[in-house]
Amino acid sequence: MLAVKVIVCLCTYAVAVVAQGVYLQPSGYYWREFSNGHIPSDAVVGGRDRAGNPTYIGQLYGLDFELLPATIIRGSPNATSTRHVSAIQTDKNIKILCSYEPHKFRWIPTIAGEAYKLANCHLVNGGSEVNVSLHIGRVNYQSEVIIGKVFSELSIPYNGVPINFKAFQILAWDCQDL
Ligand SMILES: *[C@@H]1O[C@H](CO)[C@@H](O)[C@H](O)[C@H]1NC(C)=O
Ligand SMILES: *[C@@H]1O[C@H](CO)[C@@H](O)[C@H](O)[C@H]1NC(C)=O
Repeated sequence: MLAVKVIVCLCTYAVAVVAQGVYLQPSGYYWREFSNGHIPSDAVVGGRDRAGNPTYIGQLYGLDFELLPATIIRGSPNATSTRHVSAIQTDKNIKILCSYEPHKFRWIPTIAGEAYKLANCHLVNGGSEVNVSLHIGRVNYQSEVIIGKVFSELSIPYNGVPINFKAFQILAWDCQDL
C-alpha cells in the first residue's frame, strides 16, 4: 500500500515537473527586450562574425529609422541595421529574436522579388519601413554570415555603409513540404 502511494506521489511530481517545463518554454518565436548587451539563453543564432562567433537577430526602432531588422553581436549593447545610404546603430529600443524551437526556422535561398513564391513557408516579419513589411535575410560575405533586412533586395550593414544583394537567404518558420 505504501509502495503504491509512493509511486502515485512520484508520478504526480513528475507530471508537475513536466508541466512546469512546458510552461517555462513558450512555443513559436517571439521578440524579447535586449538591453545592456544581455543575450537571452533562447536567442536565435542568425549569423557568424569573422572570428566564427554566433551573431543574433535583432529589431530596432528609432523615430527616424522606423522598425528595422538588425544584427546583434555578443559583447555589444548595440544593434546595427541600414537606412537609405547609411548603416545605423543604437543601444535603445532593441528586441532580440528568441525561440525554444530553433529547428523550425529555415534559411531559404531566394532572389530579390521572388520571396513571394515561398508559399509553403511563413516568412518571419522583421519590421516595417515606408509602410512595407520587412523580412530578415542573410548572406555569406567576406568570411562572415551577415544578417540584414529584406526590402525586395537584402541590405546589410558593412563597415558603416549598406551593401545590397540580389541573391540571399531569407528567414522562414515552420515550412511545409521542405
Ligand atoms: C553604439 O552605438 C552608439 C551610437 O548610438 C555609438 O556611439 C557607440 O560607440 C556604439 N558602441 C559600440 C560598442 O559599438
Ligand atoms: C499602408 O498600407 C496599407 C495596406 O497596404 C494601406 O491600406 C494604408 O493606406 C497605407 N498607409 C499609408 C500611410 O500609406
